[in-house]
Amino acid sequence: MYWQAALLMIGCTSAICAAGSNAPYQRGDDAASNSAASCGSCHIDVHAEWQDSAHARAFVDPVFQAQLATRAEPEHCVPCHAPGPVLERLGQMPHARKDHREEGIHCIACHQSDTDIHGPNGSATSAHTTVKDAAFTRRGSFGLCRSCHDMKIADVLPLSREFEKAGLLEQDASCIGCHMETTYRAPAGIRVDPASQTRRGRSHRLLGPGDAEFCSSAFLLRVEWRGNQRVLIIANGAGHGVPGLARLRSFLLLATLVDRAGRKLADCSLTISSDDRLLATEERHLPLPMANSAVSVIVRVEHWFLGKKLATVIDQTLEIP
Ligand code: HEC
Ligand code: HEC
Ligand code: HEC
Ligand code: HEC
Ligand code: HEC
Repeated sequence: MYWQAALLMIGCTSAICAAGSNAPYQRGDDAASNSAASCGSCHIDVHAEWQDSAHARAFVDPVFQAQLATRAEPEHCVPCHAPGPVLERLGQMPHARKDHREEGIHCIACHQSDTDIHGPNGSATSAHTTVKDAAFTRRGSFGLCRSCHDMKIADVLPLSREFEKAGLLEQDASCIGCHMETTYRAPAGIRVDPASQTRRGRSHRLLGPGDAEFCSSAFLLRVEWRGNQRVLIIANGAGHGVPGLARLRSFLLLATLVDRAGRKLADCSLTISSDDRLLATEERHLPLPMANSAVSVIVRVEHWFLGKKLATVIDQTLEIP
């Protein structure tokens, strides 16, 4: 990125650079000021987080590009993968964007409406007009996410509709509560040691299925007796059905019964895929094989993407009650 190189050359820290920038951002028709990189010249930390997210890669994503190449009308795929300002069409599919498509879902896509920059606090700055907007609160941000995550299209499933139908919004759950981790960083333009001036915000590095630990939180496991049958209960810990992308992703769950000495006695398995998703508030029951001397169950959950094993996201031993 050219602006990173430029900042490194003058060798200053992020906070001082931001304050030192004397070229206020203006939304113009010139392509340069409509890019994430231009926001990133002041919002250095947020930009770095975002750059590491699936949103930043949404257009250049090789899986997306491969599908685009096979489409008779590829422009139909652009609105959510390289959108214009979502706030201007909240709750509806955004318009496709003309410039900087390689930046995918960039800052302007979520933060700009008309010529103003909307955010959670409305902090005043000479850099741009800032508007405090409920669309950036824990609950209000649902509308922002829903604009793109509410439709069944190609392999994409309407996760936000599943979340809403399960009544999770009423239970105070939120998309950003799970997917954007709480973080503390200096506001843009603070001239002092960033550590002493941090403010609570949320990381733009989205947590997603690529993070094994986060992914494991989709499955809440326990063993119970049902009559004289031991069952492994797999409850959904995500805010929607799992997995999200039909055909592309699946989970293979393997359960092995072991005795006190750790000897394997019996096993069984379950595939959670687009044919048999774990629904938003579902508890799936997997009857375990009979094995009288079993004292515990080792559960492994493997994450598969396009026929390739990505990771083992769970490797856990559960005591049999
Ligand atoms: C209504 C908005 C919308 C439109 C239009 C749209 N997508 Fe997407 N797309 C999404 C969302 C949201 C995701 C992320 C879904 C998820 O992970 O559950 C996604 C993810 C994908 C992925 C997965 C990328 C990966 O590597 O994980 C592919 C492939 C894809 N879309 C292809 C397409 C194609 C092809 C079209 C045009 C036919 C299209 N999309 C149009 C919203 C959209
Ligand atoms: C998918 C939508 C989305 C995109 C893309 C996005 N943001 Fe945000 N941004 C949010 C949400 C939601 C919040 C509110 C999070 C919170 O509670 O702090 C936020 C908060 C912020 C804040 C203020 C609070 C804080 O955390 O310090 C700044 C500054 C910000 N974003 C800048 C940016 C910049 C710069 C980019 C591009 C590099 C960007 N955002 C891209 C959704 C987005
Ligand atoms: C010249 C520096 C500069 C540029 C360029 C810039 N900003 Fe800012 N921005 C600031 C400062 C300073 C603040 C106030 C401190 C803070 O909130 O980080 C701010 C605040 C924000 C906020 C927080 C608003 C709130 O609710 O408090 C958001 C969101 C934001 N900017 C987004 C953007 C986006 C998107 C772009 C690019 C289109 C951008 N900024 C370009 C300096 C800049
Ligand atoms: C403009 C459309 C759009 C908006 C608005 C949007 N998303 Fe996305 N989101 C996408 C697309 C497209 C992808 C797929 C990117 C890819 O993998 O190619 C995606 C991917 C994701 C992923 C998967 C991350 C991963 O690592 O695979 C998560 C989680 C996510 N979005 C959460 C959110 C949340 C939370 C919000 C609201 C703050 C939001 N999105 C707003 C379009 C959008
Ligand atoms: C209780 C926490 C929680 C809430 C609330 C939540 N999610 Fe998720 N989400 C997860 C977990 C865990 C995963 C990983 C599971 C998986 O791999 O399918 C995930 C996966 C995803 C993915 C990737 C799906 C795929 O197959 O590529 C997207 C996109 C996503 N969530 C969007 C959203 C949106 C939009 C909302 C709000 C409507 C939301 N999530 C609410 C926990 C949550």
